[in-house]
Amino acid sequence: MDLLQTERVTEQAQTMQRYYRLQSKIYDATRWTFLFGRKRILRELPVLEQNAALEVLEVGCGTGYNLKRLALRFPNARLTGMDVSADMLERSTKRTTQWADRITLLELPYGEANLSFQGKFDLILFSYSLTMINPQWAALIAQAKQDLKPGGIIAVVDFFDSPFPWFKRHMAKNHVRMEGHLLPVLENLYLPANVNIRNAYAGVWQYLIFIGRVGE
Ligand SMILES: C[S@@+](CC[C@H](N)C(=O)[O-])C[C@H]1O[C@@H](n2cnc3c(N)ncnc32)[C@H](O)[C@@H]1O
Repeated sequence: MDLLQTERVTEQAQTMQRYYRLQSKIYDATRWTFLFGRKRILRELPVLEQNAALEVLEVGCGTGYNLKRLALRFPNARLTGMDVSADMLERSTKRTTQWADRITLLELPYGEANLSFQGKFDLILFSYSLTMINPQWAALIAQAKQDLKPGGIIAVVDFFDSPFPWFKRHMAKNHVRMEGHLLPVLENLYLPANVNIRNAYAGVWQYLIFIGRVGE
């Protein structure tokens, strides 16, 4: 990573830390009203052996909403959650204490040059994180390919697009980029297994579910 990239990563992480200082307090009480598809994407994961000793990473694990579900769904999996917000991770820690022996939480931006997972994971989940990781989102999608085993699975659930410019402006003020930009990059790097674009609130916006595989 060159100096400019490192500065951008730091700046993006600091923006998130500031944003989630307050938002972490109301996150779980509010997000169920608009972060759609999170349960669905876990239900639709293909042919992962439920009792296998899987290695799973969630990038931007937030308050542990998905980690808890993953721990229940895969009783022998080792889970890693990464996030840049200490406030969000604090909630994640509380929510997942029951499975602390197999969950590792890291307070780091994903793609950090000093941290290499090289082919470690069976599954990497990005749940409503990529549209907030600007401008590095495409580099992170590519990084995940390095960090997955051959045949490993990437699962992405996130905002897709909206026909309403006012809504996109509102989301941009909340650090979310919503321009249908994730899908072409995902389709270019992974073999799509499940691609689903769904309406939220009768089409005020759409959200994306993408499940893809690394070629063997
Ligand atoms: C909208 S929340 C999603 C949380 C959780 N995945 C969920 O589905 O509820 C986005 C999370 O991504 C984290 N995040 C943002 N940029 C990140 C980065 N570069 N590396 C790791 N996590 C990041 C934020 O701190 C925040 O907790």
